[in-house]
Amino acid sequence: MLYFDHSATTPIRKEVLVRMQEVESKHFGNPSSVHRFGQKSRSLVEAARRQMATAIGCQPHEIIFTGGGTEANNLVLWNLIHQKQKHVITSAIEHPAVLKVLKRLKEFGLSVTLIPVNKKGRVDPAAIEREIRPDTGLITIMTANNEVGTIQPLAEIASIAHKKGILFHSDAVQALGKIAINVQESGVDLMSFSAHKFYGPKGVGALYIRKGVHLQPLIIGGGQERRLRAGTENVAGIVGLGLAAELAAGQVQETRSHLDSLAFRFRQEFTRVYPRAIYNGDPEHQLPGLVNVTIPDVTSDILLINLDLRGIAVSSGSACSSGTVEPSSVLKAMGIANDLNTRTLRISFGKDNTHDEVATLVEALDDIIKRYRN
Ligand SMILES: Cc1ncc(COP(=O)(O)O)c(C=O)c1O
Repeated sequence: MLYFDHSATTPIRKEVLVRMQEVESKHFGNPSSVHRFGQKSRSLVEAARRQMATAIGCQPHEIIFTGGGTEANNLVLWNLIHQKQKHVITSAIEHPAVLKVLKRLKEFGLSVTLIPVNKKGRVDPAAIEREIRPDTGLITIMTANNEVGTIQPLAEIASIAHKKGILFHSDAVQALGKIAINVQESGVDLMSFSAHKFYGPKGVGALYIRKGVHLQPLIIGGGQERRLRAGTENVAGIVGLGLAAELAAGQVQETRSHLDSLAFRFRQEFTRVYPRAIYNGDPEHQLPGLVNVTIPDVTSDILLINLDLRGIAVSSGSACSSGTVEPSSVLKAMGIANDLNTRTLRISFGKDNTHDEVATLVEALDDIIKRYRN
């Protein structure tokens, strides 16, 4: 079985799993309990907070643990209902965990401006600046896109936001472990993360909240996570996230060069056997290891199914539902016509993939394309 869908999720690291099993079996105390069982769990949670903070260059008290990337985004966005400034600027290619929330928030009086992207999937910071209004309360632009891998100019957007005193949030779920993340350098006020995208467990994430930024909780109950996220902590999950973040950030340079070499090899070999391939994204601002490729001769459902029959997992640039291929809204926003949009694959390599595996993928694609061409 060959797995090339690491943007969907990553397999958990062995050492993270071992640590989590140990925590789950030995340290079951509630971190809020005063006795030593509780104190042990508390110290594990706080150690993980320090690891996460070090991984992204902030202070531990600026990290809140959540139930994943979706929840971290929701926590930021639902705060807009408490604010006077109810206008938000975002991009047309954000994840549904931003765009669908904003759509819902319109029912609560929010107004939303969607900034278009260019054909490589990049937002123009000047376009954001032009859309700022007196009632703009938040700018939210993802660090890197999950379908095409385009990296956005965060520092430029942050400086525009801060000139006008507007908070800047970025969904960095796809980025941690693939590119270096430093919240000081990128200038963000809020940033979302998800452990299962960097070889950690599913269902646990983190939100960076710059010191001085005040939020209201989304999940209400006990006083956990600085009263911002009620509910007994997922101690093993948090410990897993902390260790996975430390390892991901510590190995980011070598991971990046390995992923780049796999993607380079794929493009080189695949273009040789199939010169009609069209690569989407921005080569100058590209998440390592993510290849979004249009194969004009075969639809993505045929490609996906036939790869799966050979034990090879990739995903389509577009969502398949009930046998019909829906065009991807991200590719649409990049101006890619529907007939090409539905003939696109997302191949996302991971740290454990090898060059031999890339060669097998190319051979399989070559074979399937020859068989199903039109
Ligand atoms: C860019 C982006 N944001 C948010 C999410 C959601 O994260 P989670 O699965 O942890 O809720 C994903 C996951 O696919 C993502 O790619």
